[in-house]
Amino acid sequence: MNRLLIKNIRTLAGIVPADTLLLRGEQMGSAEQIDGAWLLAEDGVIVGFGPMETCPAEEADKVVDASGRVVFPAFCDSHSHIVYAGSREGEFRDKIAGMTYQEVAARGGGILNSADRLHEASEEELFEAAYHRAWRMIRTGAATLEIKSGYGLTTEDELKMLRVVARLQRELPATVKATFLGAHAVGRAFAGRQSDYVDHVCEQMLPAVAEQGVAEFVDVFCDSGFFTPEETARILECGARYGLRPKIHANELASSGGVQVGIRYGALSVDHLEEANEQDVADLAASATIPTVLPGASFFSNLPFAPARKMIDAGLPVAIASDCNPGSSPSGNMVFLWSLACIKMRLTPEEALSALTINGAAALGLSADRGAISVGRRADLVISKPVPSLAYIPYSFGEELVESVIINGKMV
Ligand code: NIG
Ligand code: FE
Repeated sequence: MNRLLIKNIRTLAGIVPADTLLLRGEQMGSAEQIDGAWLLAEDGVIVGFGPMETCPAEEADKVVDASGRVVFPAFCDSHSHIVYAGSREGEFRDKIAGMTYQEVAARGGGILNSADRLHEASEEELFEAAYHRAWRMIRTGAATLEIKSGYGLTTEDELKMLRVVARLQRELPATVKATFLGAHAVGRAFAGRQSDYVDHVCEQMLPAVAEQGVAEFVDVFCDSGFFTPEETARILECGARYGLRPKIHANELASSGGVQVGIRYGALSVDHLEEANEQDVADLAASATIPTVLPGASFFSNLPFAPARKMIDAGLPVAIASDCNPGSSPSGNMVFLWSLACIKMRLTPEEALSALTINGAAALGLSADRGAISVGRRADLVISKPVPSLAYIPYSFGEELVESVIINGKMV
């Protein structure tokens, strides 16, 4: 048995009852905290925690003195696109000069630009680049990552991406979940024939992805200028036949029915929501679909921030993810998103932490065993550098405050 004892923790945050699977509305700000705490993990599972007066005297294989440090659940990043080739700082310049995301895409840049580069890259090169990015994310506190395809746009290249994700699953200490996003943009071979491309996704790509068992979720970029709610419905219906649960891109560029089609097909989450309106919020409140907001995309692309404050006030369980991708959010730093959520979305530090941890885990169907501090959950934890309080971490934006990351009870 491998035992890890962390003691003298200044603040242990993110404590919830073992059977709590997500935090909604005002619960998001009320996860318990203990000042002056210990935590014990055995074989990667939290077996106890409490105030220092009750700290067990037993032997542990590793004892960490966390004096002056905050310990919180590792981040669960439920939306990323980190398998890609090259980078797109040329488009960064175009956007600085005034072009919009849609204008860049309409010119054949954007996702198609990344698809061209991915086509030329070898599987090994793609793996190396993604492995390096994933480790950067782990170093900043993420222990669970969702990764999408969507820069292949042909059956062969989508499978190439998903094989890279499968290798990341095997070689990283973090948990990795794979999502098939064939309908991210219309592949070049189908230019001007969007409906045929949707048929191709349903008839060729999805069966191949399902046959190889390389994805658990299906995603569609359902938005103005990309795929319509009707096309999204066709793809989600087809994905359901192969047991792929929807998690979709919706309402980034317009309130265009993405939220409703996601809800109708039982999406685990609808993601982006920069343009979500009152009706979208009301429909989400009457559903089991988790609204996932991506403040890094708003920040980098100069879009409005999703109305996360309104969603929480309406009782919703908001999740926050990085959307790390080369076009609209080239960072996977969840600590920076914590600051953005507080500063730009007016979430409290505690609400934002719930969105980045337990609700992110719930947006992957994984919150039964991670995303919070409870007896029986995985010991996926972050230990901060010395800080005066939990709120100091998002407050001191840009300062690197993660000292150690523990995944499955082991320092990585
Ligand atoms: O989530 N919005 C759609 N897809 C990505 C951006 C992809 C890209 O520009 O490469 C996103 O923001
Ligand atoms: Fe995305």
